[in-house]
Amino acid sequence: MGVCLVTGSCGLVGSESAFYFAKSGLKIVGIDNDMRAKYFGKTASTRKMKKLLSERISGYEHHALDIRQLTGLEKVFEKYAKDIKLIIHSAAQPSHDWATDYPLVDFNVNATATLQLLELTRKYCPRAIFIFSSSNKVYGDTPNHLPLRELPLRWEIEENHSFYHGIDESMSVDSSKHSIFGVSKLAADIMVQEYGRYFGMRTGVFRAGCLTGPNHAGTELHGFLSYLVKCAANQQKYTIFGYKGKQVRDNIHSYDLVTAFDYFYKNPRTGEAYNIGGGRQNSCSILEAIGMCEKLSGRTLEDQYGQARSADHIWYISNVRKFQSQYPQWHQTYSLNRILEEMFHSY
Ligand SMILES: NC(=O)c1ccc[n+]([C@@H]2O[C@H](COP(=O)([O-])OP(=O)(O)OC[C@H]3O[C@@H](n4cnc5c(N)ncnc54)[C@H](O)[C@@H]3O)[C@@H](O)[C@H]2O)c1
Repeated sequence: MGVCLVTGSCGLVGSESAFYFAKSGLKIVGIDNDMRAKYFGKTASTRKMKKLLSERISGYEHHALDIRQLTGLEKVFEKYAKDIKLIIHSAAQPSHDWATDYPLVDFNVNATATLQLLELTRKYCPRAIFIFSSSNKVYGDTPNHLPLRELPLRWEIEENHSFYHGIDESMSVDSSKHSIFGVSKLAADIMVQEYGRYFGMRTGVFRAGCLTGPNHAGTELHGFLSYLVKCAANQQKYTIFGYKGKQVRDNIHSYDLVTAFDYFYKNPRTGEAYNIGGGRQNSCSILEAIGMCEKLSGRTLEDQYGQARSADHIWYISNVRKFQSQYPQWHQTYSLNRILEEMFHSY
């Protein structure tokens, strides 16, 4: 039986991947030490998901390992070696803000541990497909230099601009302020590509916009839409960080991301990087998202304003045409409304 190794298996992307690939007949081996609770506190813990995975996936095997521990990781790779067909690497320190206070931890988890995983893949299962959850933060604050216009509810780009349908992979990763988190993700992103180009391994990098879905343990520092919907559902105050709440994000459901992984898995390439996200049709500003949540809850959301995060994007929409041109059958199944409704009802 082939094995799918999922790092961060209890997180949003990891759990969606585990459920999805279990259905395709792969044995799921998950690695997750619930470090999300250490980063963001108990309410962000992904412990419950570990239980769900064990209950719902037959043969699910869990390792509460820290991906920084090379010896522990090596034992897992040694055990399954050439049976490993697919690796979804989604364990990470995912927050821009958290990284600023703990750069060493952030870099070791996001960058160094990714290199360890690549090296173990090269040693034990070089034909496995290695998928890495990267981030649009690899472009740093370059998107903030686009000619943006302020509208009543959102920042927007001119319709005739080449990025009107989203930012594609031609955007430079140089000469910008990335944030500490942006650099650790970029280092890992380039290394994953390099293991494809240099060693011929089948690696794919997915640079995501905002990923979301009801399985997200959303918290103030990470998982904006999930956290916002939770505040709306539970009548908690929401803090808007800077840009008058007009900053724009595109949102993709974790299920639609994982179906993209599946297309790559079935027809892999070497060292490719893709921008992936909800695109223009699934984009919203914080103010627009608040409006949609208020409609769903029938109540006004109490909010307050905080300072903008350094190097945070003012406007980011992903252009997914590169991925779609290589995998034309892939399409998104979740509209923004459907995402919000599903999360609202689940909270
Ligand atoms: N959620 C988003 O909006 C978003 C956007 C762009 C990119 N990404 C990237 O996608 C990936 C997955 O994001 P997510 O939203 O699923 O995050 P998540 O926090 O929900 O999941 C990550 C999981 O990894 C685990 N983990 C963290 N550090 C670990 C360590 N040292 N050892 C073992 N396990 C560890 C956590 O406990 C958590 O369960 C990350 O690489 C993130 O940077 C996420």
